[in-house]
Amino acid sequence: MPTRRTARAVVNVDLPGPQISRHLYGHFAEHLGRCIYGGFYVGPDSDIPNEAGIRLDVVEALRALNIPNLRWPGGCFADEYHWKDGIGPKDERPTMINTNWGDVEENNHFGTHEFMALCELLGAEPYVNGNVGSGTVREMSEWVEYLTRDGDSPMVRLRRANGREAPWRVPFWGIGNEAWGCGGNMRAEHYADLARRYATYCRDQAGNKLYRIAAGAHDRDYAWTEALMKALNPLGCTNRPRGYYQGISLHYYTLAGPWHAKGSATDFTEDDYYRTLAAARAMDEILAGHSRVMDCYDSGAQVGLVVDEWGTWWDVEPGTNPGFLFQQNTLRDALVASVTFDVFHQHARRVVMANIAQTVNVLQAMLLTEGNQLVRTPTYHVFEMNKGHQDAHNLSVHLSTEGTSRAYGEGELRGELETLSVSASVKDGDLLVSLTNLDAGEPVTVNFDLRGGVVADLTGRILTAAAIDGHNRPGEPDAVVPASFDGFTVADREAGAFGVGLTVELPPHSFVTLAGRVG
Ligand code: AHR
Repeated sequence: MPTRRTARAVVNVDLPGPQISRHLYGHFAEHLGRCIYGGFYVGPDSDIPNEAGIRLDVVEALRALNIPNLRWPGGCFADEYHWKDGIGPKDERPTMINTNWGDVEENNHFGTHEFMALCELLGAEPYVNGNVGSGTVREMSEWVEYLTRDGDSPMVRLRRANGREAPWRVPFWGIGNEAWGCGGNMRAEHYADLARRYATYCRDQAGNKLYRIAAGAHDRDYAWTEALMKALNPLGCTNRPRGYYQGISLHYYTLAGPWHAKGSATDFTEDDYYRTLAAARAMDEILAGHSRVMDCYDSGAQVGLVVDEWGTWWDVEPGTNPGFLFQQNTLRDALVASVTFDVFHQHARRVVMANIAQTVNVLQAMLLTEGNQLVRTPTYHVFEMNKGHQDAHNLSVHLSTEGTSRAYGEGELRGELETLSVSASVKDGDLLVSLTNLDAGEPVTVNFDLRGGVVADLTGRILTAAAIDGHNRPGEPDAVVPASFDGFTVADREAGAFGVGLTVELPPHSFVTLAGRVG
């Protein structure tokens, strides 16, 4: 007899917690495979509708997500990128080999001006990642000057000669990338000193205030985070951290297996599915670990944790260049995104920004393009359904569950996954509740006790598919799309009780959002 899966969820709608920065919904665009070329940028001579080479269908689709910031040009590419090669007349720009990604020739046609134009079209704030691995302090300092200085200076004159009069606003600046690996294979203390040095010469110019982000750890490398925090505050928590850099990054990818056999994006077993979601939910324990280390040196959470690379990583689609990291995207990927956002919301005090890898045609993409065709992935729809959480205040959800866990795997690979995930927020009286049922085959009933306010005008949306591997593709772009959802009932309350009872029936492998007003 199947176990009844139920949960009780208590939410105090009148006790808002930390603000969920909109920057947790940030994106990442690297010179990798078809993310920039073919994805964002097709060149001004393309038949595909474009503005100065930037694909307009891509821009239109992404504008619906309210993308708050876009990280560029890498990733590993950032530490081999020399920005002066990417300015000026396109036919005079030097070429280079993209040694990290497919060993292909990069013509530098998409450079600083093109990136800033893209951000303007998207309405996104730029997050520029500088080169520490193979660049110089001077090169990075001059890039900041070129982008953000006003008045008269050598870099301002160069920018004007290239057609841009006014400085841009660049709020976010990365000091290298993965310095422990492709960014120079450095040891933590050595890189921490370099981060302090490079950051010193990334000046705040013309009223532009930089949020400098040091290249942080991956996964559970807490020692790396500690070295970066110690470099800001050698005396520990009794002191305030020094402000050389304001944020520290973290990279965490969700895999269902080891790096050498990550598995197919579309062809996977139920065990693979549960293992993947367990790996995604591990983000919670990983963020808690890094936050604990940071708390030791910065009890006031002045230094932000920036998860500027996250998402699923599968084997590339058969027949595609292994260096291009092109993968399909199923409902499984969408549910990875929804539970990851629940984790980010819960860590909103320390985690100030995040960037999914990557926006178009690479890894866990929002959009896949094939020639002039464009496909919105299931992950895209999670970003769209969740956008009401941007800059809202997190509401703690106290969950008590029964029968909502799943055992998977065997022997050493055995694990247990909690299959229900919920988060909620409120912004200017707008309530948004996000619920994910990860169970592949069973529904779950969630009984909410929404306390401290009257909740009205509830409407629901659902993202699901006939099977966990449901996905969209050219020719069938709307196989997995959100639909309206009415699987909830609002219960009457006895006279005098302040609050609302709400019962939600979540179908298997589904993501649901409920939006309403709190009075
Ligand atoms: O996102 C793909 C790559 O993953 C990035 O270039 C690198 O930073 C990470 O290892």
